[in-house]
Amino acid sequence: MKNLLTALEEEIAALEFGSNPPNLYDPIRYILSLGGKRLRPMLVLLGYGLKKEDHEKVLLPALAVEIFHNFTLMHDDIMDEAPIRRGQPTVHEKWNNTVAILSGDTMMVKAYDQLLTGPNESLPAAVQKFNKCAVEVCEGQQLDMNFEELETVTEDQYIEMIRLKTAVLLGFSLEYGGILAGMSVEELAQVNSIGEKAGIGFQLMDDLLDVYGDKAKFGKQVGGDIVSNKKTYLLIKALELANKSQREELDKWLAATDFNNDEKVEAVKAIYEELGIFELTQKKMNAYYDEAFKSLEELDARTEGKAQLIAFFEKLMKRER
Ligand code: IPE
Ligand code: IPE
Ligand code: MG
Ligand code: MG
Ligand code: MG
Repeated sequence: MKNLLTALEEEIAALEFGSNPPNLYDPIRYILSLGGKRLRPMLVLLGYGLKKEDHEKVLLPALAVEIFHNFTLMHDDIMDEAPIRRGQPTVHEKWNNTVAILSGDTMMVKAYDQLLTGPNESLPAAVQKFNKCAVEVCEGQQLDMNFEELETVTEDQYIEMIRLKTAVLLGFSLEYGGILAGMSVEELAQVNSIGEKAGIGFQLMDDLLDVYGDKAKFGKQVGGDIVSNKKTYLLIKALELANKSQREELDKWLAATDFNNDEKVEAVKAIYEELGIFELTQKKMNAYYDEAFKSLEELDARTEGKAQLIAFFEKLMKRER
């Protein structure tokens, strides 16, 4: 698995995007060079590996999902006013918003170029499913922003929001590997659903790390979700389980307009502590990964390919970044 990741990194480093004007293209190279887990192209390779062994054949098309993902991060960081990504200044901080918008737009187009490196017979299905996924990511992102302003968001609304903003891309990535390997329509639906289940677990972990992560390892501002009133699973559960005084305290911080960030984060975290929110979120995450493992068991695939995917998910469940 290490080799697959190394092979992906080499191909990413060799990508060429363009050079003029520099502030259109430099941010693309910048964000892609900052590392990251390369989870989505890994899923393409692992999806392919469920049927075939010659992964090297699909390294280039696999990068389409990484380029697309990095485009969403560039724009997401503007929307979330995030200062740090992968331990370095975000593109809109290092350059500015207009640069981050246009470089991001360019990356979206470059993602299509990258899809075109796949075999011709894969293209109709790949583009159609990629498009559906990309629009759903926008739907999820808009819901995420809308929810910041809402007082109540239900657990079901939250799960649907993260399914859209995050999980569908993991589902597509795994499915794209299946498309490239020539899976049947039924198998493609199965692997998409496996990726989506894991993707919901993955976003639950992201929400958890946003509060409990170690800044140096996580590479992002810790507590940002609390500061911006993100309706995460953690907050939704806390609002649901709070007693009267805890509820008043939470409501006070949610309504506050002039506050010290650290103070708000510490106060909300203290309530999470009292209510056992960490454990509850972990339990929810495990339940989604378990569903993914169960469907994977039922899939007709190479034993080695399944084992690799299981090991990959297990690592993600314990991740610190
Ligand atoms: C961050 O994705 C955005 C989410 C969907 C939570 P990753 O956690 O995969 O970010 P990188 O690519 O590894 O930096
Ligand atoms: C982002 O969710 C999902 C997408 C980028 C589409 P977050 O806003 O939680 O991602 P991070 O935490 O900034 O990486
Ligand atoms: Mg966001
Ligand atoms: Mg964000
Ligand atoms: Mg996050």
